[in-house]
Amino acid sequence: MKNLYLLGATGSIGRQTLEIAETAPERFRIIALGADRDVEGMTELVRRHAPRYVAMNDAAAAATLAIRFPDIEVGSGKAGLNRLASLDQDDRDGLFVNAAVGIAGLEPTIAALKIGRDVALANKETLVVGGDIVMPLAREKGVRILPIDSEHSALWQCLEGERPESVLRLVITASGGAFRDKSRAELEHVGVADALAHPNWKMGKKITIDSATMMNKGFEVIEAMHLFAIPLGKIDTVLHRESYLHSLVEFVDGSMVAQISSHDMRLPISYALHHPDRVANPTERLDLAKIGKLTFAPIDSERYPCLGLAYAAARRGGNAPAALNAANEVAVALFLAGSIPFLTIETIVSTALEQLSFIAQPSLAELLATDAAVRDAVRGRYARQLL
Ligand SMILES: NC(=O)c1ccc[n+]([C@@H]2O[C@H](COP(=O)([O-])OP(=O)(O)OC[C@H]3O[C@@H](n4cnc5c(N)ncnc54)[C@H](OP(=O)(O)O)[C@@H]3O)[C@@H](O)[C@H]2O)c1
Repeated sequence: MKNLYLLGATGSIGRQTLEIAETAPERFRIIALGADRDVEGMTELVRRHAPRYVAMNDAAAAATLAIRFPDIEVGSGKAGLNRLASLDQDDRDGLFVNAAVGIAGLEPTIAALKIGRDVALANKETLVVGGDIVMPLAREKGVRILPIDSEHSALWQCLEGERPESVLRLVITASGGAFRDKSRAELEHVGVADALAHPNWKMGKKITIDSATMMNKGFEVIEAMHLFAIPLGKIDTVLHRESYLHSLVEFVDGSMVAQISSHDMRLPISYALHHPDRVANPTERLDLAKIGKLTFAPIDSERYPCLGLAYAAARRGGNAPAALNAANEVAVALFLAGSIPFLTIETIVSTALEQLSFIAQPSLAELLATDAAVRDAVRGRYARQLL
């Protein structure tokens, strides 16, 4: 029996994680659930899964839940989220599932690693911002980081049992997001509802916008570099509109090994939760003959500048990816609030990188300070739109 400590439980990945856990009640027990502020969503989950511990980032949300569930321990704020990740320190077989969105996921990941707990990771920002700290810590503690993202799950499956020196390059596929058929001129007038209409995946709002700008692909490149200890120059991307081939590895002998399946996050979640076993799950099976063909095309870097900005930040290293992420998080929130046009997202991110006070080997505290400073600078510059 594996105990699950799940952050981001009320979100898209969080709920699908609970669904997969429910299909194997003899294997998984839900011990702790956490989220930001969705009290009603969490109330429903607590009634269904009866966790021992609940953490809400928002103090008022935590207080409401503490009144509703007097028999359950409820934590709040950063301390509450970190406690969720490191609850029951002696439970070495437990799994921390990080399905939170944003940099809020970084410190709980570190808290879990510090007590030697494996982490199933959906939260992108953990490795984008803190990969240089998180991966050495995981190695030092001898714990595993099990990727949940479909692209990294695909790469993980393709790389299992292979020697690092056999790998020529990783190729990460991209659907192209909601605006893949629009010209740059048309992008000047797109709205929030258009950007949220992803052609293949149903995901949380932030990642759906990141898919439309292709920042999501840039984040995935940075994550892959850390997760698989592969130099940035050996990670490529390719446009694959159908989203069935989730990524591939090219080996030195010319073989390309790919992972293909329906676009359903329950499969990579199931793979991470059950690893090393493969277990039947409710995902739709692919009928290759019905699909007929899979298409591939180069990604036009002028069409998607955010991808280039992510590569540039990764190449520079240090606190540059933290600045990239912070500027992007604020810019996406501004766009979702209807405060800035779509194309201003890339302007905000590129300005943040230009104005960065660079630190080559930042500590965790310096990464968090970079995050705060960049957020303040962007919010300051766009204060009028925020009113
Ligand atoms: N959805 C996908 O298919 C997919 C695929 C690959 C990777 N990912 C990555 O997985 C992560 C989650 O994505 P999602 O699509 O599931 O997002 P989502 O549907 O927006 O859910 C986000 C979750 O994070 C919680 N949260 C937000 N801010 C928080 C904070 N400050 N502290 C604690 N919890 C917080 C939310 O709580 P409230 O509900 O209370 O706001 C919610 O439970 C992201 O990093 C995303 O890039 C997602």
